[in-house]
Amino acid sequence: MSTGYIIAIDQGTTSSRAIVFDHAGTIVSTGQMEHAQIFPQAGWVEHDASEIWNNVREVIAIALAGGNFTRHDIAAVGITNQRETTVVWDKNTGKPVCNAIVWQDTRTQEIVKELAGDHGLDRYKQRVGLPLAPYFSGTKIKWILDNVKGARERAEAGELFFGNMDSWVTWNLTGGPAGGVHVTDVTNASRTMFMDLETLDWDESILADFGVPVSMMPAIKSSSETYGHVHSSQLLREVPVAGILGDQQAATFGQAAFGAGDAKNTYGTGCFLIFNTGNEIVRSSNGLLSTVGYKLGDARPVYALEGSIAVAGSLIQWLRDNIGMISSAAEVETLAAGVKDNGGVYIVPAFSGLFAPYWRSDARGAIVGLTRFANKSHIARAALEATAFQTREVLDAVNADADVPLTELKVDGGMVANDALMQFQADLLGVPVIRPEVTETTALGAAYAAGLAVGFWKDLGELESNWSEDKRWEPAMEQAERDRQMRLWKKAVTRTFDWVD
Ligand code: G3P
Repeated sequence: MSTGYIIAIDQGTTSSRAIVFDHAGTIVSTGQMEHAQIFPQAGWVEHDASEIWNNVREVIAIALAGGNFTRHDIAAVGITNQRETTVVWDKNTGKPVCNAIVWQDTRTQEIVKELAGDHGLDRYKQRVGLPLAPYFSGTKIKWILDNVKGARERAEAGELFFGNMDSWVTWNLTGGPAGGVHVTDVTNASRTMFMDLETLDWDESILADFGVPVSMMPAIKSSSETYGHVHSSQLLREVPVAGILGDQQAATFGQAAFGAGDAKNTYGTGCFLIFNTGNEIVRSSNGLLSTVGYKLGDARPVYALEGSIAVAGSLIQWLRDNIGMISSAAEVETLAAGVKDNGGVYIVPAFSGLFAPYWRSDARGAIVGLTRFANKSHIARAALEATAFQTREVLDAVNADADVPLTELKVDGGMVANDALMQFQADLLGVPVIRPEVTETTALGAAYAAGLAVGFWKDLGELESNWSEDKRWEPAMEQAERDRQMRLWKKAVTRTFDWVD
């Protein structure tokens, strides 16, 4: 009997995946299923948590079958997840009380205003590292307790649990109502609005301000330890569940960005730049979040600054699904390649307001610079470029907050397969952009966290030696052109402000 592999479950915004890794960090088998994106009205985004749990079970089965694996081959399970997305469920039946409210959802804008009151959006920032914004789980839980019939009474009677997708998947995987563990890790907890960044405990006074009973909250654990074992009713029965990391922190870990000053940018549904600040909590004065990067067992936590961009790949999906301009996401690259520049067109995809560095929930998307000359190739190009412009703004904020400027950027996620976009990114940033061999860094990071906990990998050095460079893009744009592009972009951004009363 050999336990030569680790399985990572990546519960993302658009799909759930299970990936089996070997000791070299190489992918040996994968299962993937998309779930429904539910848009009940403008600004609302929901997922069916029960559908997601069923998909997770299914993708585990697919990944195991793909490599002819049984549970005996798997040393541990690691979990990584879309962060902030909020599930509230009945702990006795396992039924969610309503659809999960997704991180992109802006329905809690009024709650944010009320809580900010005279204190301003930074009311809790010193303690939790985050401004008040609809993005984080806190106002979403409050919305559910205020709006779902009977939810507040049931929560106060101790019948309901809250969790992000990590907690929901772990609870179900380890037994659900028949004895599942209700836990989260420090990285996910740091996205709720409720965890004190220094003590790594729930801050009961903030919970009280939001009217959220502490009995709903999962126990906060490190990112790498055995939380429990898979329940006997599941394919992976008895396998330890031993790693949990929010997906952006997992990608940072999978990129082996372990040292203070290391950074990565992940181009997924959204785009998230994480800059490791070591054991120090750096408070941003430039619109970045202070968050936990990871915590391995009893070791001290490693903190990070994060620049969160709400819309990246989802803008391309929008062009495909809502506008019908392209029939596949790949087509956008072909279209964009048909023109030499954006023809003066800029798209600011403020679908969920603007996140870093602006934090404007009153912003809404805009396409500006249109002339009779503009065609769909220019729109395609502007859609891709939007991600690069937003990343440059986040990088500027990192450089303003950190002592030493970033000299290169490690990248991962679906969009890094796009050569022209990565070249434009390097051009705009003025620093090299580097893609690793394994671009599935999110799942890899979760596998690493789980593997470290069970001794499958012995230390960070071993993980570092698994990382290797695949491709590097050097900046080639003239400084004057870079400045001109950024000036126009920033002007376009201002056109999205104050759109929601
Ligand atoms: O904070 C939201 C983030 O965790 C979602 O990531 O990769 O699903 O876009 P992704």
